[in-house]
Amino acid sequence: MNLVFTDIARMYGTHPTGHHALKGAQMAEVPFIDHAFLRCSNGIITETGIMEQFSPEVQESRVSLEGKWLIPGLVDSHTHLVFAAAREEEFRMRIKGKSYEEVAAAGGGILNSAMKLRQTSEEQLFEDACVRLQIMMAHGTSTVEIKSGYGLDTASELKMLRVIKKLKESFPIQIKATFLGAHAIPAEYKTNRTAYIRLIVEEMLPAIHQEGLADFIDVFCDRGFFTPEETATLLEAGLRYGLRPKIHANELGLTGGVQVGVKYGALSVDHLEHCGPEEVECLRHSNTIPVGLPGTSYFLGLPYTPARALMDAGLPVALASDFNPGSSPGPSLQMTWSLACTQMKMLPEEAFHAITLNAAAALDLCADCGSLSVGKRADFCVMEGKPSLALIPYHFGINHVAQLYVMGRPCSGPQASSL
Ligand code: NIG
Ligand code: FE
Repeated sequence: MNLVFTDIARMYGTHPTGHHALKGAQMAEVPFIDHAFLRCSNGIITETGIMEQFSPEVQESRVSLEGKWLIPGLVDSHTHLVFAAAREEEFRMRIKGKSYEEVAAAGGGILNSAMKLRQTSEEQLFEDACVRLQIMMAHGTSTVEIKSGYGLDTASELKMLRVIKKLKESFPIQIKATFLGAHAIPAEYKTNRTAYIRLIVEEMLPAIHQEGLADFIDVFCDRGFFTPEETATLLEAGLRYGLRPKIHANELGLTGGVQVGVKYGALSVDHLEHCGPEEVECLRHSNTIPVGLPGTSYFLGLPYTPARALMDAGLPVALASDFNPGSSPGPSLQMTWSLACTQMKMLPEEAFHAITLNAAAALDLCADCGSLSVGKRADFCVMEGKPSLALIPYHFGINHVAQLYVMGRPCSGPQASSL
């Protein structure tokens, strides 16, 4: 199927093919083409250029996008969108002054989600996840990573990963699955954490491998969760099954998460609400991408990831929604974009790269998505033309995406939220 989109007022993210993550100062320049066309064949971009150089081809359908802007489909490299129920009662507790860690210690948090998920059928989890995914697509997301980690026993972790597999088969967007059995120590292993780690290594990982259910492995390496030593054991085991690490690190403290992630060649270390000079230095000698999750800092009142310090050190920065029922119940990367500008002092252009090309790098998908380059998927957001890119994060709280196209096809999603 050959398609050409013409008369595009402006098309952003037209990087040359072969670009990897943009580092430091490179993040501030977004390449664009005015009065452009984009051609694709079987969902893959084959040509981009200016209308002056456009010549129609036989047997190709033409769609005029006069006056519209195109930006690449957004890439959400860190979500927990398969869950059984919202946790608004904990929201109330925190409004009244309890911290995230205090709520968790009182039986809330991840263990609360695990209890509910174990009681929920695979079918129900799938149905609810579909609605959430459609809302994310309506807000421009065309690639998403989804983690397990609310099962915390073999059957329930497999149940979550099978839901993710079914989502992969049912949606046209790109989905990557991450195994996060080490999200918390389940209540039944409270006094025997080594036994739970053994269960992950000896039972969960082989079963997941057998069914080919995961692309990556994650560990919540933080105060009160998993230590760097435990994380090392788990990442080594994951690597034996070909699962590259992408880990939760330094959300609650400076706990050595960045260092252990880098040591095991993590694609990304995510959170970094706590991140000092030693962490920055460690990242400078690695290919690991630091990923900030400003929705979590906003929702939990935590410090924001020091994106400016990371960029000043010449590092690439990516951002993700961390969409989950406990610390970041917002699925929109447009909100992430706005928070990055207002709270992390990232320029609109820097934050744009953090949710497109650099986010693709955090999923090892630079060859497939994150920019409107020849050879990549024709995944893009159509929006009304504006005087400036900055107006997207500037007008926060509204949906700027009129239509998401995935592999050249329009995808409609519900505009109203019923999460
Ligand atoms: O990324 N920090 C660990 N995991 C999630 C929160 C999980 C939850 O509270 O349900 C996060 O913030
Ligand atoms: Fe997370």
